[in-house]
Amino acid sequence: MSRALRGRRILITGAAKGIGLATVERFITEGARVVALDRDEVALAALRGRFAAGSLDTAEADVTEPEAVSAAVAAGAEALGGLDGLVNAAGIDLIASIETMTLADWNRIIAVNLTGPMLVTQAAYPHLRAAGGTIVNVSSGAGLSPLKHRTAYCASKAGLQMAGKALAMEAAEFGIRVNTICPGAVETELFRSSIDTAPDPQAAYETVRARYALQRIAAPEEIAAAILWLTSAESSYVTGTAIAVDGGRTFH
Ligand SMILES: NC(=O)c1ccc[n+]([C@@H]2O[C@H](COP(=O)([O-])OP(=O)(O)OC[C@H]3O[C@@H](n4cnc5c(N)ncnc54)[C@H](O)[C@@H]3O)[C@@H](O)[C@H]2O)c1
Repeated sequence: MSRALRGRRILITGAAKGIGLATVERFITEGARVVALDRDEVALAALRGRFAAGSLDTAEADVTEPEAVSAAVAAGAEALGGLDGLVNAAGIDLIASIETMTLADWNRIIAVNLTGPMLVTQAAYPHLRAAGGTIVNVSSGAGLSPLKHRTAYCASKAGLQMAGKALAMEAAEFGIRVNTICPGAVETELFRSSIDTAPDPQAAYETVRARYALQRIAAPEEIAAAILWLTSAESSYVTGTAIAVDGGRTFH
């Protein structure tokens, strides 16, 4: 069996649930050793119970807290003996009109979705430089083509794409590739909470589903497959891209 990430040492944020979790599962199947970073210690403990020691380490940190991020990345890199790859998947959503969104709402979205990946990248960068590694940022189709009542979320995700492109320019000389995935709607807790809090959840689900040419919501594993490609040597000539994995909405 070919294993695309045999022996690769990868740090994944937002790893306890959803897209991050599907990425942990796929990467370990492909032979990687993974550090799963998340702020949800209970979910991390459940994850530890599922994998053999040696294939998975966990690190509890909120990606918005610089000291916690530094300590978690340092411990993760030490456990793995270095880092060959980083996946920034931690993120949160906000649905709010410009009239109801507070400054605290805006600041939290920017902190988690934009500043967080930057902090984790800075902490991981010396290790990625040493290895000539990869960075994959999980943005959103909402960073390519806007969605109503998601001003902060769209801005954070568009910012993450451009930050990745700019970093790709300076990281290339160290053999680091930086790419971005822009998922459409994916069946995760983040997606479910946006549907379940709508006045009519069934209608909200249908509205979202109908936006996509493929007329369905993605499984997290379909996003993990694209993250795998951008992390593996199969994408060796790809850097600075933002790739839509969105069933046909943004046509990017
Ligand atoms: N689900 C979708 O429809 C969808 C679509 C496009 C993009 N995305 C993006 O994909 C990424 C993953 O989303 P998901 O749907 O898997 O969400 P999810 O809520 O299922 O999982 C997110 C994980 O990130 C962790 N997390 C959140 N904030 C954190 C923080 N400050 N520090 C550390 N960990 C934190 C959570 O604990 C959770 O384990 C996000 O960046 C999201 O914006 C999701």
